[in-house]
Amino acid sequence: MRPLIRALVACSVACCIPLPLAATQSKLDGYWELRVPNPSGDGTFRDTYFQLLRHGGDVHGALIRWHYTIPIVGTLHHGVLHFATQPPASAPRWRQKPITFDGAFSHGKLSLSMEIGGRAYRGDVLRVTEDATQPPKPLPLPALHDVPDNGLARTPPMGWNSWNKFAGKVDDADVRAMADAMVSSGMSKAGYTYINIDDTWELGRDAAGNIVPNKKFPDMKALADYVHSKGLKMGIYSSPGPKTCALYEGSYGHVRQDAETYAKWGIDYLKYDLCTDLDIYKDDAATLQAIYQEMGEALQATHRPIVYSLCEYGRAEVWRGWGEKSGGNLWRTTGDIQDNWKSMDAIGFSQIKIAGYAKPGHWNDPDMLEIGNGGMTADEYRTHMSLWSMLAAPLIAGNDLRSMSNETKSILMNPEVIAIDQDPRFMPVTEVSHDGEIEVLMRPLHDGSVAVGIFNRGSVPAAGTFRLASLPAGFQGKRVSVRDLWRHGGVSIHKDRYTTTVPTHGVVMLRITAD
Ligand code: GLA
Repeated sequence: MRPLIRALVACSVACCIPLPLAATQSKLDGYWELRVPNPSGDGTFRDTYFQLLRHGGDVHGALIRWHYTIPIVGTLHHGVLHFATQPPASAPRWRQKPITFDGAFSHGKLSLSMEIGGRAYRGDVLRVTEDATQPPKPLPLPALHDVPDNGLARTPPMGWNSWNKFAGKVDDADVRAMADAMVSSGMSKAGYTYINIDDTWELGRDAAGNIVPNKKFPDMKALADYVHSKGLKMGIYSSPGPKTCALYEGSYGHVRQDAETYAKWGIDYLKYDLCTDLDIYKDDAATLQAIYQEMGEALQATHRPIVYSLCEYGRAEVWRGWGEKSGGNLWRTTGDIQDNWKSMDAIGFSQIKIAGYAKPGHWNDPDMLEIGNGGMTADEYRTHMSLWSMLAAPLIAGNDLRSMSNETKSILMNPEVIAIDQDPRFMPVTEVSHDGEIEVLMRPLHDGSVAVGIFNRGSVPAAGTFRLASLPAGFQGKRVSVRDLWRHGGVSIHKDRYTTTVPTHGVVMLRITAD
């Protein structure tokens, strides 16, 4: 029990008099909910909960996001209220931005607006109980057993996802336009198939508990039919938690029902994002496996082929077997990628050591592509595409497919690099050498050739070398042909090595074949 309530209850018990409701209600002290409409006007709200306590003109308390609270401090003078969060230094970086609140309090009524990063948000303020600020109680999870392989995703899935470019703004028209552009740009011919709607499509539930899309998506079945009419497949997003990461409706308590709804709509791919389930359950391997198994089984019970994408940011080493056992076709191995070199470089190169845990039908997913979103140079985007392909990572584009430059198209649709990613006989990438900023990776391919990536992670152009002695045993003593997969032509080898200048943050991708 919170201190204020404890004090009030203690007093009312000790004094043997009922607590006068009107007296407490006319006070600022208590729990409040600020319901701010989401900016895209989709008919949903973002709820912010807080506890306020007043001592004279001072106000303090906490902003409450379930188990997580951030202290707030402020003032109330002549009915005018100001307060702001005071995130502790230990708060995650994305929670460190202070939020300020301004409002008025009179006759028990509170009005508030909230300012984050210079933007003001206004909404209804309701008095709530402490319980309303807390997560629901844990529901029982299924006993662990292995979900059979669904036979999908024999090569890493390729497609498009709305989050990186559109985030909360994606709507039905955008998704149709992306399906059109996927075909007209040549992306579908290059192998990109899935059009995936990420977070913020949800409204809530109808009286029967069925998930209902918000105003941005008037008819999911019709949308899926449209995507299918283009020869493409459609993906959707949910969370096992009560709320998604953007705080929209999750599948908590409705796992089977939601899987059935997706199948009815004609969904072919589900990204299932842990988000608020972390506030309810522990994040050890067994608990996470049970959480993901529940949806894995529910999807299979629909008898519709649905690719199952686990998104739990690599917690409990999902690649070590339990991701596959829960029915997963791919699993995120890291936190969210950002459209900059530092983020892409750190994520991409950290994946080599776990590349061997992938296999057909079950892929490591270092997050979606940022190619074409504008935050990196063309060389950096070529590195992004090459590295993801060397890793056999899913290639899920995250840009606006309607307005791709020729350079972006040449990167996302390079058939020779895509062929490395999609090699039909998966064998993992290994590091050949790491010399200063030059990192050389190699991956054997189904036809006996090998892919070699010479990466320059440094901030000046540098010479990179691949020594033929590093090739697998079958190559030794043979003449080789070497093809540059970005220049689309052969290169000649001098003596026992290939040396070339690799641009800043760039890559030279080779395919080497024994003659
Ligand atoms: C998490 C995921 C992202 C995206 C957002 C949506 O951060 O990791 O890929 O799906 O949620 O809210």
